Amino acid sequence: MDFDQVVRNRKMTRNFESRPIPEFVLAKIVSNAQRAPSAGHSQGTSLIILASPQETEEYWKATTTSDWRKNSRRSTLMDAPVVILVCCDPTAYTARYSLDDKIDSDLSRIESWPVPYWTVDASMCAMTILLTCTNEGLGACFLGMFRGEGELRQALSISDHLQLIGAICAGYPKLPDPPSRSALIPKVPIENFVRWRRGG
Ligand SMILES: Cc1cc2nc3c(=O)[nH]c(=O)nc-3n(C[C@H](O)[C@H](O)[C@H](O)COP(=O)(O)O)c2cc1C
Repeated sequence: MDFDQVVRNRKMTRNFESRPIPEFVLAKIVSNAQRAPSAGHSQGTSLIILASPQETEEYWKATTTSDWRKNSRRSTLMDAPVVILVCCDPTAYTARYSLDDKIDSDLSRIESWPVPYWTVDASMCAMTILLTCTNEGLGACFLGMFRGEGELRQALSISDHLQLIGAICAGYPKLPDPPSRSALIPKVPIENFVRWRRGG
């Protein structure tokens, strides 16, 4: 398998070249991301883009320990030249569904929503970013917001009304990039994944 195939077969990339992503590619990522769908076109998703070593360092300092930064085999993630924070604003949804054409849906209060579609929409936006990266020959990795959210909010002055969904590291992929332990877990059998409700 050549380099290109290795990279294409791996969905998440965790080792990056530090060379920057060209501005026109970043512009395409942003433009595609904005085309992701949203409930009622509420458009409550927003991005914070960190695209210099000084900026990405703020993310890593807030969300990891110095021990991880020095010793983790995954500290290669920090070489990614770009980190994109995906945010959403639930109040954009309640405001949108308070308008005349949606008011009958009874979704003008957060508690009325059966599914938090602000999270769903931000996730679709994140997937659009991951797919655009693949299309542009870049690698990317979605990282959950599991640690240091408070520190990150403070460092980047992120407003309280925004929820942080996760971060996407992006850049040119580099080998070696061993699969994560999670990626080694076999896929569930297809019959457990899909149930065909066919008549007959
Ligand atoms: C919500 C979510 C959170 C994730 N968080 C992390 C993370 O913190 N660190 C990481 O290395 N990968 C993270 N991943 C990537 C998954 O581990 C990865 O998609 C899974 O192992 C399958 O690997 P593959 O996408 O390379 O096939 C996350 C993925 C999702 C969807």
